[in-house]
Amino acid sequence: MGFESFYKRFDVDERVANVAGFNPYYMEIDSGLNEKIWMNGRQIINLASNNYLGLATDERVKEAIISAVEKYGASLCGTPISTGYVDLYKRLEYSLSNFVRLEDTIILPSCYQGNNGLFVSIAKKEDLIIVDRFAHSSLIQGIKAVGCKIRPFLHNNLEHLEGILKRSQDYKQIFVVTESVFSTDGDISPFKEIIDLCEKYNALPIIDDSHGIGVLGNTGKGILEEENIINFKGIYTASLGKALANSGGMISGKKEIINYLKYYCPHLVYSTSLTPSILAGIEAVLKIVSSEFESLKNKLYSNKQILFASLMEAGFETTECIAPINSIKTQSKENTFKTAKSFFEKGILSTPFIEPSVPVNQGCIRLIAGANLTQSTIEEACEIIKSVRKT
Ligand SMILES: Cc1ncc(COP(=O)(O)O)c(C=O)c1O
Repeated sequence: MGFESFYKRFDVDERVANVAGFNPYYMEIDSGLNEKIWMNGRQIINLASNNYLGLATDERVKEAIISAVEKYGASLCGTPISTGYVDLYKRLEYSLSNFVRLEDTIILPSCYQGNNGLFVSIAKKEDLIIVDRFAHSSLIQGIKAVGCKIRPFLHNNLEHLEGILKRSQDYKQIFVVTESVFSTDGDISPFKEIIDLCEKYNALPIIDDSHGIGVLGNTGKGILEEENIINFKGIYTASLGKALANSGGMISGKKEIINYLKYYCPHLVYSTSLTPSILAGIEAVLKIVSSEFESLKNKLYSNKQILFASLMEAGFETTECIAPINSIKTQSKENTFKTAKSFFEKGILSTPFIEPSVPVNQGCIRLIAGANLTQSTIEEACEIIKSVRKT
C-alpha cells in the first residue's frame, strides 16, 4: 500500500459540521472555568464542563496547588512504583479510600487509563464480562483488550441482566460492569439491585462512579453512599477530573486486589505519576467537599432545576435525568449540530453528542450548570434557552 492510500484511511467526515457551518469540537477557550469563559473575544456561559461543584477555579484549590509546586516542583518524573510515590501521593490514596469508604486505592493519570488497565490485569480469557450497553468507551476498550467473552445487557435492565447471569454459570469468573450516572442522559443505575444479582449468581460487580463521586450521596461520597451500599466487595473506579475538579483516575476496593494492581497493572506501574500540583488540588477539593458539600449540592441541583423548568417551558424534549445534568433530545446529527450552534451564537457553550458516542439518531445536547454559576447567569441562560427554541 502506498503512502497516499494509507493516509486516505484518516479522512474525517466533516460534512455535518460543514453544512451546519459550525464544528462544536476542539473549540478554543481562552480562560479558566470561571462563571463565564472567554472564547474568541466573547464571554460565554459554560454549561459544557463536568465542573459540577464549580471548584476548578476555587481560590483555596489554586493556593494548595501553588504550595505543592513550591514544595515538590513541577513533576515527579517517575512512576508511582519508583520516584513518583511522595508523601502527598500516599496521603491522597488514604483520603480517597476513606472518602468512598473502601479499603484501599490506586491513583492513575486518568480514569480512562484506569478502566483500560483494570480488566487486562484482573480478567482472563476464560472469564465472562457482562456490561451495560451504554457503558463508557474507557470500560468497553478495557474489556475488549482482555479477549474474553463479552455480553452486553440492556441499559439498566435488571431482568435482562439476570437472564444472562442465569445462562452463564459455566464461566470461571463473571464480572458485571456498569456506571453510576450515565453521562449523556443523566440517569442512575440500580446498582444495589445489580449487587444483589451478583451475589445470587457469584459475579463480581464493577462500578465506574466518574459522574457520581462528589455529586451523589448526602455527603458527596458517590453511588455507594447514595444507594446505601455497605461493605462493597466489588471494584470501584472514578475520574478525579469532574466534580473533584482536577484530573486523574482512581481504582478502589479490597486491599488484596488493590495491592495486586500496584504491582501488576501496567497502566499504573509504567506511567508517570500525576503531578504534585494535581495531587494537592484533589486533596484541597476533598477538604472543601467534606465541609461544604450540602450547600454546593443544593446550589448544583437548584441550578439544574431552574434550567430544566426553562427547557420545559420552551418546549424542549429532554431525557429523564435524575443527576444534575439536563440532556435535550436532538436526535439527528444535523439537528444536534444546528441546536448547539444556536446555543453558542446566543452565548451558551453546550456538549453535543452524536454517534458513535450515542446510538444513531439519538443525538442529544448536554447542559451542566455547575454550583459556581450565580443566579443572574442562570437567569441569562434561561432567556437564551427560550430564544434558541424560538429560532
Ligand atoms: C463514565 C466515565 N468513565 C471514565 C471517564 C474517563 O475519565 P478521565 O477523564 O479521568 O479519563 C469518563 C470521562 O469522560 C466518563 O464519563
